[in-house]
Parts: sequence; structure tokens; C-alpha cells
Amino acid sequence: MSRIDSLLAVMTIEEKIGQLAMLAAGFSVTGPVLATDVEESVRQGRAGSLLNLYGQDATNRLQRIALEETRLKIPILFGFDVVHGHRTVFPIPLAETASFDPALWERTARIAASEAAADGIALTFAPMLDVSRDPRWGRMAEGAGEDPLVTSLVAEAKVRGFQGASLGARDAVAATVKHFVAYGAAVAGRDYASTDMSERTLREVYLPPFEASMRAGAAAVMPAFSDLSGVPMTANGPLLNGWLRGEAGFEGVVISDYNAIAELVVHGVAADLGEAAAQALNAGVDIDMMSNAYVEGLPVALERGLVAVEAIDTAVRRVLTLKERLGLFDDPFRRDSMQPVDRPRLREAAREAARRSIVLLTHRNDVLPLKAEPMRIAVLGPLADAATDMMGSWSGAGEAKDTVTILTGLREARPDSEVRYARGVGVDREDEIGPGNAIEVARASDIVILCLGESRDMSGEAASRSGLDLPGDQANFARSVLALGRPTIVLLSSGRPLAVPWLFERADAVLATWFCGSEAGHAIADILTGRASPTASLPVTWPRSVGQVPIFLGERPSGRPASDQHYTSKYQDLPTTPLFPFGHGLTYGRFIYSAVQAEPRNAKRGDTIVLSIDVENQGAREAEETIFVFSRKPVARVARPLLELKAFTKLFLRPGEKGRAVVMLPVEALRFPGLDLKPAVEPGEYDLLVGGSADRSTLMSARVTIEA
Ligand code: BGC
Repeated sequence: MSRIDSLLAVMTIEEKIGQLAMLAAGFSVTGPVLATDVEESVRQGRAGSLLNLYGQDATNRLQRIALEETRLKIPILFGFDVVHGHRTVFPIPLAETASFDPALWERTARIAASEAAADGIALTFAPMLDVSRDPRWGRMAEGAGEDPLVTSLVAEAKVRGFQGASLGARDAVAATVKHFVAYGAAVAGRDYASTDMSERTLREVYLPPFEASMRAGAAAVMPAFSDLSGVPMTANGPLLNGWLRGEAGFEGVVISDYNAIAELVVHGVAADLGEAAAQALNAGVDIDMMSNAYVEGLPVALERGLVAVEAIDTAVRRVLTLKERLGLFDDPFRRDSMQPVDRPRLREAAREAARRSIVLLTHRNDVLPLKAEPMRIAVLGPLADAATDMMGSWSGAGEAKDTVTILTGLREARPDSEVRYARGVGVDREDEIGPGNAIEVARASDIVILCLGESRDMSGEAASRSGLDLPGDQANFARSVLALGRPTIVLLSSGRPLAVPWLFERADAVLATWFCGSEAGHAIADILTGRASPTASLPVTWPRSVGQVPIFLGERPSGRPASDQHYTSKYQDLPTTPLFPFGHGLTYGRFIYSAVQAEPRNAKRGDTIVLSIDVENQGAREAEETIFVFSRKPVARVARPLLELKAFTKLFLRPGEKGRAVVMLPVEALRFPGLDLKPAVEPGEYDLLVGGSADRSTLMSARVTIEA
């Protein structure tokens, strides 16, 4: 008999349900602490897994209790949100996506996994795969932006990175892909709010990243807090048992979100914990995170005949199988006994990731990179010396004291110059401090670096905003500084696009610096000084105003496209175009696209189309361009979006250099769900459009015909 069969044969119902319960250990300011009732629950076999506990001492101690003081000696599974780094903090996911660099996406997850594993962690609640087209929703910061293909590629890279070659390896952690599904479509951009959409949109936009993560072998899935058309995802049998375990063939563990099973009562689909527990279990949720619904509700549900013991056994089997795959039965301390990782090397990786995440949005008057001669640099604003904010919303076990601020980074990079700092204003009103001497510092400078934006807790979970402006008094402050007429570079730290068109018009340069983690300040200084060239591009469309939201590249055509005519699809008070399209990102070079060729022009299923694009860097500096390939099917039975992203690639060119990018596009990449919602390649003409962003007026195109 296998180990798991033998265990199941002797487990009491309480012991079984205990394996399905995940409890949180608390946090104190100095790190994780253990609530005594959690320790007691482990001792009594009422908690098969824990979250928010890390560090070799703490995890070892608890593991010993499970192994030495419980009847069956089943090891504990320790989970933690290692979303963008563990001790070494990498850029927030939205920022890192901007690198459009799958190797980088994988590398940072690998590093985070090895650091977390050395702290006893065997499972992470990441990657977050929620496509999001509404910057009001604060959790846009945690995902890969608006596009299903990009999110799918991030999904694969992150799952590979976290899980490594084998889940049993000492430095592997199991990935939990979340939040299944459509959480990012929260109505009105309000976190935890309801979602509703057509099955077509679900299949075209929201499911593909999860499908990709299944192909990459993700070990676990977390359902979203939200409901989809009235059925909360935590109780959504058709999608969990039906699509996920059925269509997508998922065999791993489904872990509820925090307290989500108990919240089925608040959603209004269950009358009490017993019903809630039964609905979740029957829908396919194996582990109850923190709602005590399984421990309290499953015995009641059993008594009422709402669940079968076999369903509990199935869930327990999945949990034990995961523990086995992670090597926990063979050596529960294998992760805890890992040597601490080589920190300097990791910091270099964090710096590189941060550099590749910073997007140069506008640039005029040649202010960048900063001139080499010594100068007086004014560093102003509430985000200039903000170590905690730089870490972003899921800073894992990272610490502010290990985080390089923009001010520190610039001071280190320019010892020849006089770098003067004044905060000038707080992030929001409660934090108001008044411009003080900031205006004087700016007036007496040769150049101003104005560090504006959001604090880190203004994006992430439960951090939706109804406006996309600069919080507090920052706009007034920025206007006063800009009015001085000094050359001014604005650094925008935020977890979402900020709709501040006036700022882009008036500043000499604006960079989206997001929240770039432990090495934020060094990386920003690298870009400003020209030690590194900006290479990143926007993974989201950047609106002019919150009123344009949702705005994204994959819009479907209207029968009355916007024009000068009155009865067309437009606003009276705003252009329909965004401030910056998806993919926008300047470099220190200047790239001119000259020709696009697609071969063969007539292709059939199974063929691969070879696209080649000639590009020249006519700028004065070497630079790396990100080249996007979109498709458009001008005529299809179900109208296709104006643009669909199909691929991207990079080209590094020196000044004056010409290069050719070659993209291999399998015909199968042109599939979409037809009238019957089944994915297929519809024969006919397709345009393949290539360029540096999703600005349709700049794209070069080649037409191919797919034969029937
Ligand atoms: C979040 C999840 C997270 C969990 C555990 C929840 O509130 O929605 O994304 O993994 O907490 O920390």
C-alpha cells in the first residue's frame, strides 16, 4: 500500500479535516510570531498547513511538534506570499512585467523560491494571474497587466521559476496560481466586488493564463474571493471541478483564499458554516485557509448528508500528495537546512530586474541621461527617500533598512554633484507637510528630480481608488516646482497608471518607476545617469482620465468608429485614445521600422509564419527596442478585437546600426473561439501588425491568408 493509502486507512475524520485546514501564524513588527492557539492546533492535528510563518527557527519548532507530538506525524506545509521576492525584494509584478523578459521573470521567481525555501517555506501564493484592465483596482499592481498572452507567459515563467526542475528539490516551492478566475474584472474597480462577463470573454481573456500555468505544472490554485455572475468562485463547481480539473486536467490542490469559505455566507449562497463548507468542498476546494469552516462546518455537513466522506478523502489525498511531492515526508527539514543564499549576487539581480522595469514615458529637451559634469541636483517629493514604499505591496520578508531609496541611489551615483533633498509635501492629505524649503532647493538647482506618486499601500489588496490622480497636495506642489522653469524629471512611483496628462505636458521627462524593490534607488540612478538605458514597455494602456476606464488594446471595433461625425463612438470631452498605448516605452535610442515581411503569404494549419522586421537605431545612443507583433482578422464570424498581441521580441542596436528581428508565429497562434466557443483557426485573411507599441497609427503590416 502506498504511504498515502496507509495513512488514509488509519486517519480519523478529525485528522482528515485537520489536513484540510490552513491557519495563519501572526506577525509582529520584528517578524513572524506564533500564536499559542496555532501551536496547540498543530499539536492536536487540527492544522495541516500554516501561512505567514517563516524562518528556520520558527518553522523547525512547529515541524517538530507535528512530527513528535501528533499521532500520525504528518509534516506541516508552510505557505507564504512570496509574490515579488522574499528577503531580496524585486519590482512589483506589474513593473517586472514591463521588462517583457521571460528569462528575467523566471530568474527572479527562482531566486525568491530559494530564499523562501531557506526560510522553511514550501509553498507560495503566487503568481497572481489576474488580467486587469481597470487601474482603479489596486491589485493591478500584483499582476501582469491587461493582456492574456503576456499574463500567460508570466504564468509559465513564474511557475517554472518557483517550482524549479522538481518540487522535491530543497530550493523548490510549490506555486499557487491565483485568483481563479476573473477577479480583476471587479465591477467599478472595487476590490472583492462582483464580476460578470460572457463566456467568450472568460475563455479569451481570463482563463488562458490559468491554462498556461497548468501546462507549466502549477501545483496549486487559489479561487478568487469574488463571485462570477452570482456564483462565488470558492463554491464554483462548474469552473473548479468542471473547467479546471476537467478541461484543463489539473490534479493539484485548490486552496481557498483567506476566510473565503466562511464568506460564502456573506455572499448569500450559504446559510451557515456547514453549508459553506459543503459547497466549497463539493466544488473542489481542498484547503480552507483561515475560515475554520472545514473544522467546524464539515462535521455538521457530514451529519446533514451534504458531503460524503469520499469527497473529504479525495481532498486529503490531494493535500498529502502535494506534501509527498514536496519531499516533506522523506525529509521535512530539507528546506530548513539550506544554507542562506548569496545575498550580494541576489542584490545585483534585483538591481537588474529594477532597471529593466522602469519605463521612460516622455522625454524632451535632451535632459536624459544626466550630463556628466558636476551639478546641483534637487531631489524633491514624498517618494524620494521612502524606503518602505519602494518595497511595494507584497514585500515578503524584505526590510526597509535593506532598501535603497531614490535619494541614496542618486547620492551614490553622483558623488561629484551637490545632491540636495527636500520632501516638500506628503503623499496624501493626512501626511501634509507643506512645501517648506523645497521650492528654494529647486530654485537653486541645475536640475530637479521630482519624486511623486502613491504610497505602497495605495495599491495592492483592498486598495482601490476612484481617481487616478496624484494623491494629496502633490499636484499643487508639482505645479509650483514646474513653474520655476528648471529642467525637471518626474519619477512616478505607483502601482497603477496615474492619469495626470498635465504633468506629462510640462515635465521634461517622466519615468514610471513603480515600486522597484530592494535596489530601486540604485536602478533608478543607473537609468538617470545613463549607466543603463531604459528598455521597459507598458504592460497596460495608460488612460488620460479615469473616465476612459476600462481601456485596453484588445477593444472590438464599433460599427461607428470615432470620427468627426457626430453619431460615432467617442466622448464629447476627451479623445478616445489613451495617453500612452500598451507597449509604449522610450529608450535612449530612436528606432525606425522599415519593412515587415511574412512568409509564406498563404499558410495552412500546422505551418509556421516567419515574420521579419527591419529596424534601424537612428539615435545617438545604443538601446534595446521591444518589438510587438499583433494580429487582426478584418472579417470573422465573431468580430475580432482591433489588435491581438501574438508575440514580442527584443533588438539591441548601436547608434546607426540596422538589425532584423525574426519572429516565428505558428498558425495555431491565430486561434480564437468561434461561434460555438471552440478554439479554431478560421480560414481567411489576417493582418500581422508590427511596431514598438499598440499605437495603431504607427504599425507596419503584412497580410497572410490562412487556407481552409
Ligand atoms: C489575498 C491572497 C493572499 C492571501 C494570503 C488574501 O487576502 O487575497 O492573495 O494569498 O490573503 O495572504
